[in-house]
Amino acid sequence: MPNWTQLRDDFPTLHQQVNGKPLVYLDNAATAHKPRSVIDTLTRFYERDNSNVHRGLHALSNRATEAFEGARARLARFINAADPAEIVFTRGTTESINLVASSWGGANLKPGDTILLTEIEHHSNLVPWQLIAQRTGAQLRFVPFTGENAEGLDLAAAEKLLSPDVKLFAFTHASNTLGTITPAFELCSLARARGIVTVIDGAQSIGHLPVDVRSLGCDFYAFSGHKMLGPTGIGVLYGRQKLLDAMPPYQGGGGMISVVDYQASRWKPSPERFEAGTPNFGDAVALAAACDYIDQVGREAIAQHDAELSAYAMEQLSTLPGIRILGPRRGEKRSGVISFSFEGVHAHDIVTFADEDAIALRGGHHCNQPLMKKLGLTSTTRASFYLYNTPADVDALVKSLHRIIKFFGVE
Ligand code: ALA
Repeated sequence: MPNWTQLRDDFPTLHQQVNGKPLVYLDNAATAHKPRSVIDTLTRFYERDNSNVHRGLHALSNRATEAFEGARARLARFINAADPAEIVFTRGTTESINLVASSWGGANLKPGDTILLTEIEHHSNLVPWQLIAQRTGAQLRFVPFTGENAEGLDLAAAEKLLSPDVKLFAFTHASNTLGTITPAFELCSLARARGIVTVIDGAQSIGHLPVDVRSLGCDFYAFSGHKMLGPTGIGVLYGRQKLLDAMPPYQGGGGMISVVDYQASRWKPSPERFEAGTPNFGDAVALAAACDYIDQVGREAIAQHDAELSAYAMEQLSTLPGIRILGPRRGEKRSGVISFSFEGVHAHDIVTFADEDAIALRGGHHCNQPLMKKLGLTSTTRASFYLYNTPADVDALVKSLHRIIKFFGVE
């Protein structure tokens, strides 16, 4: 197993004081910090190779193009895509899902069709589908969660809901609010057996779990770079080549056309078809360095580390009076995300007080408003772990929470 404490030395941001205390960063589901190797790759690219890709015949442009296409090939290997052409660079998970909704949805959905989602989706895997449903006349249906605290997903209901009118099933691989890891392989198998296209929101899973799109059997897989130790503003849409090549462009502009006339144009194949304008090549190159870092540590090991920290945090948090913890129960499989609440104490107060102890948490609806409403909550406090967190971080969190709830009269 990697030495998790030693590995913290690779992350410059972690080594600072906040309010005179050492930073305890537990907001990794929002964004992760970057190892020195990713920062150095980005700097090196801009210091040496920066030039626009695909357009030039000079040395720098050729180097930049080679680095950019090399990054695409690295990302393809990272998720075991069959071909680099199945990797479309986007701004992040949100744009990747909007691309599928607008392009695939616009071309394939009609009144009477159903888009199946789950009740635990982030807004970025809900609102794009609402938009395309309004445009095409398709309707939305939802696989319900189970339990008072959204402990699981109703898989029997999912099977029933995958009826002939369902054309597409989009679901998260790991919930940003609940810590649920969904049975993505089983859900894809059910959908595929019925000819239903699948879209996986991989924002919270990509840097945390081994992801093999061919073993999963999904049609599309969307993720961001910044939650997997890479830069912000870069993400990926993986799509099966056959599906991508049959889809119309999402945006028009330079780089995505083969022939242009005043009245009409023809498109390049994927992935260029979906990358209009100058792509974010610098960040793509640094994202490939993030893949290298993660693979060097090992995704099995990271997943186990997340699960162990989560289990320890569940155990420790459960000792706090009046706490309500959402998501899978103690002893069940979950990612490194834990949301909780205390009656009568607003999550924003908890986050603000925890910041006094240099603990970075997140409070709010976590882009999950319908889920919160169904759970009778307006917000929760969320702690989310990654490879550089340790049990000492959990102890600091629990100690701070004791102080906070005492102040608010909970104990
Ligand atoms: N989607 C990110 C989160 O859950 C921003 O915090």
